Amino acid sequence: MDIVLMGAPGAGKGTQAAKLETTLHCKHISTGDVLRAEIASGSELGRKIAAVINNGDLVSDEMMLSILKNVVSGTDKRIIFDGFPRTVAQAEMLDSMLKELGRKLGKAVMIALPEAAVISRLSSRRQCRLPNGEVHQIGPDFSLQDCAAQNGEIFSRPDDTPEHVAHRLAVYHRQTEPVIKFYQAAGVYAEVNGDQTPERVFESLLSVLKD
Ligand code: AP5
Ligand code: MG
Repeated sequence: MDIVLMGAPGAGKGTQAAKLETTLHCKHISTGDVLRAEIASGSELGRKIAAVINNGDLVSDEMMLSILKNVVSGTDKRIIFDGFPRTVAQAEMLDSMLKELGRKLGKAVMIALPEAAVISRLSSRRQCRLPNGEVHQIGPDFSLQDCAAQNGEIFSRPDDTPEHVAHRLAVYHRQTEPVIKFYQAAGVYAEVNGDQTPERVFESLLSVLKD
């Protein structure tokens, strides 16, 4: 059954989804990554998306769904949704899409993190773009030295500036937090403490997903 990973910007959704993908052999779909790939392709759609996401706002529900449908219908594996749904309308759309495709949502797990930790993590996040276009997060699995050795370029996400982080948090409280009630009502909601080492967060997630 599919999994939704929820959480504020910087809560660790991407970090944990990548670990779950390897351990549970499922498919990680980060809507943020899908949108950034569209921007990197240089398409007209990508230019429209860049204007929205570099400002920290949400791409429209309709655009998100049409982009996502292609990705979801292309896999038979269990899916981990990272960064989707971000509105109650998206949660309803996801329900219908999964039903249409004969899939089912098993759990929606919130990685809970205090706001001060969000701000500190995002202000220090660095990424590395390799000459082949691959993007790696600088951290325990990919160091600054790894980046230099592969002729990569270090950069920060345009939406990680303090002003944009503050705006993303406001958008999160206003548009995404109501999704919690939606999944509580559906009986699939669970929460883990995101304010621990990545390894401990991962253990907590595995234990919640076993239930
Ligand atoms: P998206 O890319 O999803 O960004 P986000 O939700 O703001 O979250 P981040 O990716 O910044 O954080 P994360 O929770 O993945 O944490 P990470 O593991 O990277 O979306 C970007 C934009 O795209 C949105 O603002 C919106 O415009 C658009 N968009 C996306 N989906 C959309 C949708 N469904 N509808 C409409 N628009 C959409 O970790 C963060 C940092 O912390 C890293 O440096 C990491 O190394 C570090 N870290 C992680 N875990 C730990 C830990 N346990 N301890 C210490 N450090 C840690
Ligand atoms: Mg992410």
